[in-house]
Amino acid sequence: MSDLLTIKDRASESRSLECWPVARTTNSRLSDVDFNHIPFGHVFSDHMLAADYENGAWREVQIVPFGPIPMSPSNLTLHYGQSIFEGIKAYKNDQGEVSIFRPDKNFERFLQSATRMAMPAVPREIFLDGMMQLVGLDRDWVPTTEGSSLYIRPVMFAMDDTIGVKPGKKYKFLIMTSPVGPYYNKPLKLYVEDYYVRACEGGVGAAKTAGNYAASLYPTEEVIRKGFDQILWTDAREHKYLQECGTMNLFVVIDGVVLTAGLEEGTILNGVTRDCVIQILRSQGIPVEERPVSIDEVLKAHKNGTLDEVFGSGTAANIIYIKELHYHNQSLVLTPHEKWKVAPQLLKELNDLHAGRAENARDWMWKV
Ligand code: COI
Repeated sequence: MSDLLTIKDRASESRSLECWPVARTTNSRLSDVDFNHIPFGHVFSDHMLAADYENGAWREVQIVPFGPIPMSPSNLTLHYGQSIFEGIKAYKNDQGEVSIFRPDKNFERFLQSATRMAMPAVPREIFLDGMMQLVGLDRDWVPTTEGSSLYIRPVMFAMDDTIGVKPGKKYKFLIMTSPVGPYYNKPLKLYVEDYYVRACEGGVGAAKTAGNYAASLYPTEEVIRKGFDQILWTDAREHKYLQECGTMNLFVVIDGVVLTAGLEEGTILNGVTRDCVIQILRSQGIPVEERPVSIDEVLKAHKNGTLDEVFGSGTAANIIYIKELHYHNQSLVLTPHEKWKVAPQLLKELNDLHAGRAENARDWMWKV
């Protein structure tokens, strides 16, 4: 039995996994929240998990009331961005049971991001057991409306008070949680970027690190000003091969075959929803190719009527339909998604699983 299974079984056997000390809030904010109107990322639950790394070891692991953390103006992260994070969701079913979706995959990716950013590993007892305990404690914060969830945000950053350019020796790890509604509420119009880049080979595109998002802000604001919703990033060498769109992985369906960029070049995130999409489709016998997908191939398919669907996948966004791609001076308008087969079926399957309406056959839902 793997370590991950051991943790999972331990966690699901014990509904109130008590591994870390808890300082409970005396002032819950729960009754202030309008769960029918929760914009993404503005409201945070009562507690957070916090841990400090110093002298090569993690210490002071505890669950405390959510709140500010003291920081020096010379904090290393503020200057050089040594910071990584994850995004995970917890759902509540009709019986009031709370489950976290595939936190082990995010843990794996978090460790890979840490390696790339010269940061220490966080032990699974802190990341996974701590997350289960935190979500169990704030279970009343998990919304129940369809499309809503408790977004879980682990983050680690350097805490050294020095502006010398080198990896930190001190780190803080936090897990906060936030009740959220849908990240996007409509199909998107994408601008196929041919100047700015998100990631290049040898860079940090596969790491979930703050700088990737910071670098996307200015180009994204530009395309929003031009009337588009998000950028479809292309490769840094030729601006020809499709990478990610906004904060999501991208899928293109051409003539019944589902295409998505591969992970080998290290320029896209190894998305957990991306992995779900691939596994679900392959189990249904739908062909999926992980390989470079060029804009020329998409243009050609649109021209000859075989561009069936384009969609994005991500934890925050789930599955989002793309309604239009803009490339140079051309607009590629997709068939209305009401006529699609692949993405709507995937969305239904994932929503059913999240809501507990479908069997947890792949063990993706970790009961808290
Ligand atoms: C996620 O899908 O969880 C993300 O990380 C997107 C986020 C940056 C809002």
